[in-house]
Amino acid sequence: MAIEVTWLGHSTWWIETGATKILLDPFIGGNPAAKVESTSLNPTHILISHAHYDHIADAVEIARRSKAIVISNYEIATWLESKHGIPGVMGMNLGGKVHLPFGSIQFTPAVHSSSLPDGSYGGACGGFLIDFKTVDGKHSDAEFSYRLYYTGDTALFSDLRLIARNGVDCLIVPIGDLYTMGPEESIDAIELIRPKMVLPTHYNTWLPIAQDAAAWVQAVHQRTSARAVAPEVNSVLRLEKNVDA
Ligand code: NI
Ligand code: MN
Repeated sequence: MAIEVTWLGHSTWWIETGATKILLDPFIGGNPAAKVESTSLNPTHILISHAHYDHIADAVEIARRSKAIVISNYEIATWLESKHGIPGVMGMNLGGKVHLPFGSIQFTPAVHSSSLPDGSYGGACGGFLIDFKTVDGKHSDAEFSYRLYYTGDTALFSDLRLIARNGVDCLIVPIGDLYTMGPEESIDAIELIRPKMVLPTHYNTWLPIAQDAAAWVQAVHQRTSARAVAPEVNSVLRLEKNVDA
């Protein structure tokens, strides 16, 4: 199966290949940019980059209903399990990897802050390197090996290059500014990470993080070799292997 990626608004993404349906940072109900009902989402995996409301708001409801495996840091996973009775949580920490039928997921460092909606300690904030790959010579859900790097909320930092050292097919990077890096820094990040393709996130949700996506796409094409695409909310993007720059 091909890999299909859909921006659900703010920093919420849906990544689907075959039977694998990954929901990244679920923020639907209170998200003014969202155009789906959270009750229509039935993921197999929910990934939470950090504890802030705009990344975790709908996680409890969706996890409870869908029985998805929730992958996050140890503190968030423990909070979901003990405070909300969510089974099937996988708590990890920075640099660690979990192996799943479709490939692996690594929890990567981000430079940001993290506290849970009720004020509890949220642990480290991070991002995810999602490696879709063939397993034991047999195809997993993806037709091809593909590495997707979602940085999560972060400032620009030089270890982005280290994290991406084995190559990145598709990067999802924040451009909103104020709470994360802005458009300028995102281009520096793209130069460090050198992805084949890049998608912007964490922008146009509220006025303080409004950005001109078309201008950003143009700037990425002028200054880097990555192919930039700024999808509309809810439009499905098919990821192909070896995207031409
Ligand atoms: Ni945040
Ligand atoms: Mn955020």
